Amino acid sequence: MNKKIVIANWKLNGDQTFVKDFIKKINSTQKKIFENIQIILSPPIIYINYMFKKINNKKIFFASQNVDYHDKGAFTGEISPYMINEIGAKYVILGHSERRKNHFENNTLIAKKFFSIKKNNLIPILCIGETKKEKEKGLTKEVLINQINQIFLTCGNDAFNKTFIAYEPIWAIGTGKNESPNNINKIMKFIKNYIMQKSLNKNIKFKLQYGGSVSDNNVHKIIEEKYIDGVLVGSASLNYKIFLKILKKISFREKK
Ligand code: 13P
Repeated sequence: MNKKIVIANWKLNGDQTFVKDFIKKINSTQKKIFENIQIILSPPIIYINYMFKKINNKKIFFASQNVDYHDKGAFTGEISPYMINEIGAKYVILGHSERRKNHFENNTLIAKKFFSIKKNNLIPILCIGETKKEKEKGLTKEVLINQINQIFLTCGNDAFNKTFIAYEPIWAIGTGKNESPNNINKIMKFIKNYIMQKSLNKNIKFKLQYGGSVSDNNVHKIIEEKYIDGVLVGSASLNYKIFLKILKKISFREKK
């Protein structure tokens, strides 16, 4: 059985006290809980190196929430993939709807970042998803295809090998509303088939995550679906008690 993956996206939350407390709690959590799950933590980048050093379980990985596509140069305020690698992160979240909206990131820029992430041996976690309006108009698949196609155009036919795709319907983020597990599964199946059909190498491997109001109340149903490899958790990852409940529900679920 493949390990299910839990990615914790803290967004712009946490401070040094919070980070220290989180580390203390994760270090004193029963090891057994982590055996059946792959955990990827994505705190604000400034805390990654400290957490990387202080968390005892070296099978817990880290993701940056953003990256610049340049390797170096006069790009004030930016961070390169090389730097992310150097501080202990192996993954980069990109294309998140909050960055698309608040920082005007479009598919072209996101594809450049995707290319640069892969070139630097990091693993992209590409977020895609539709707005409420687009869903209501029946445009979900079209929106997802547009977001995916730009990656193929910029990065080639086997771009998605060894990557993560996170389907995050925008209307489900931070709202307490979810797509039903069955519908998520259908969309995941569509994403998988679409990518496989466009890829030249039919042996490529990539993971499909679901994000959007994942909580300790709904994770067990989501995770059972065939095409869902894991979840991308926002606010529920900020409360360790709830986060732990999510981990337990995944780790100790009945195996089919
Ligand atoms: P919430 O879990 O808070 O809805 O956030 C989801 C998300 O945006 C993860 O990237």
